[in-house]
Amino acid sequence: MEAEAGLISAAAGTMRAMKRIVILISGRGSNMQAIVNAAHAESWPAQIAAVISNRADAEGLAFAAAHHIPTAVVISKNYPDRAAFDAALRSVIDAYAPDLVVLAGFMRILTAPFAEHYAGRLLNIHPSLLPSFPGLDTHRQALQAGVKLHGASVHFVTSALDAGPIVAQAAVEVLPDDDEATLAARVLAQEHVIYPRAVRWFIEDRLRLEHNQVRLVEPASSPAAPSGTGLQERTA
Ligand code: GRF
Repeated sequence: MEAEAGLISAAAGTMRAMKRIVILISGRGSNMQAIVNAAHAESWPAQIAAVISNRADAEGLAFAAAHHIPTAVVISKNYPDRAAFDAALRSVIDAYAPDLVVLAGFMRILTAPFAEHYAGRLLNIHPSLLPSFPGLDTHRQALQAGVKLHGASVHFVTSALDAGPIVAQAAVEVLPDDDEATLAARVLAQEHVIYPRAVRWFIEDRLRLEHNQVRLVEPASSPAAPSGTGLQERTA
């Protein structure tokens, strides 16, 4: 099996364990596709272990299957309440032993025990410049507020909605003629840049969570950080 054969890869002179990523989607899955494509194109030391949806008709499932990625569906209406659904979802996810769980357009509010179980290894992308415009209809919120910059944020998930430590953000200009669709399209193009980048930082062990903020450190093998000197660092 390809996954087993590739468990350890040589990366920049160091042996590094192959990280396992589980991606959760609800719909078209374009962010999931961007991550899968980047992982392949850039030969990440990571494996997309599974793509899981809460909707059987999520378009992204076909893309995952076509790329030989295991898929699973966990449907909320089969469970009596949110806690039971989250527990079932958690057991499906954990069967793939993920190092990282990526929410990519996963349209469910998750319970606090779920977020706590994956603390520090659960990422989400939200289509606004957080902390502005948490929740739904972010592009409408941005247009109504009259902001001149809008964008997207990748953040660690905590039990507070759309409020975890921010890993990466991208801003786009709000143009005078924008409607929700045109603004969403420009934001989405940026999501496809920052989400794969943030996931790659995670699998390269470059993210440090300190005092509810994320610090990005140079890769261990970077020429900018030879062994015996201090790491060069910057805030994500
Ligand atoms: C994205 O805009 C994401 O930020 C939001 O839902 C949308 C999902 O799009 N959470 P896709 O399924 O990744 O194409």
